[in-house]
Amino acid sequence: MAVVTGAARGIGAAIARRLAEDGYDVAALDLDEGACEETAAAVTGCGRRSVAVGADVGDEVAVTRAVERIAAELGPPVALVNNAGIQRDRILSRMTVTEWESVMAVHLRGAFLMCRETQRHMREAMWGRIVNISSTAALGNVGQVNYSAAKAGLQGLTRTLAMELGRHNITVNAVAPGFTITDMTRGTAARVGIDFDEMVASQVSQIAVGRAGEPQDIAQAVSFFLDPRSGFVSGQVLYVAGGPRG
Ligand SMILES: NC(=O)c1ccc[n+]([C@@H]2O[C@H](COP(=O)([O-])OP(=O)(O)OC[C@H]3O[C@@H](n4cnc5c(N)ncnc54)[C@H](O)[C@@H]3O)[C@@H](O)[C@H]2O)c1
Repeated sequence: MAVVTGAARGIGAAIARRLAEDGYDVAALDLDEGACEETAAAVTGCGRRSVAVGADVGDEVAVTRAVERIAAELGPPVALVNNAGIQRDRILSRMTVTEWESVMAVHLRGAFLMCRETQRHMREAMWGRIVNISSTAALGNVGQVNYSAAKAGLQGLTRTLAMELGRHNITVNAVAPGFTITDMTRGTAARVGIDFDEMVASQVSQIAVGRAGEPQDIAQAVSFFLDPRSGFVSGQVLYVAGGPRG
């Protein structure tokens, strides 16, 4: 069975649904259990088992309890997608320590804690799959020094865990999406006071395939890494951005 964090909506919800179609039972984890019910229902609609779990991925105790509950209700989690994410954009000179730390807490501490708690089960099973959701922002993006550093950090975490866990038959990879239409990108447009359609048009003008990403585009790449047949692919970062530039 697979755990998807940040599964209440957007990319995480699409990943959960896709993994269910691929044959995984899926635990949908997000800050609010109730908000995961729709995703959990979509998973059961695909004929797979599911559980909605409320937990803050940056909270050590909450993560430990969540993984214990998931293992008890759905069996050992042998696949993990670290997708939960937030943005707290600000130019460096105005960025507060809280904005820096809250982004690190979700993306980096969250991924670290989720990996640490689930890998126990993967090692016991002698099989596992981990995918971390990075971003093209890892390559640099003005106003996102916290987010960019966290997403680049996830790539380092991915490579190192691939080395540490490989001998247990566990692969660890990252998917780095480009501009994808979700509440996160809608929120960015609202924050900077741009019409969302204008923002999409401006982004699309720089994307080789001439369209914005959809959550299912990202789920497709995650599905590849979580496929049992992808066992010889590890420590990789796949940019899913409609072109080579990321
Ligand atoms: N949308 C894009 O263009 C884009 C591009 C590159 C990378 N990403 C990354 O993809 C992932 C999903 O993004 P999205 O666009 O679907 O965003 P979203 O804001 O729509 O969804 C993110 C989900 O994560 C959850 N979450 C936030 N903090 C959490 C925490 N501490 N514990 C548990 N859950 C938490 C939120 O409640 C939300 O349901 C994120 O990691 C994001 O950084 C998105």
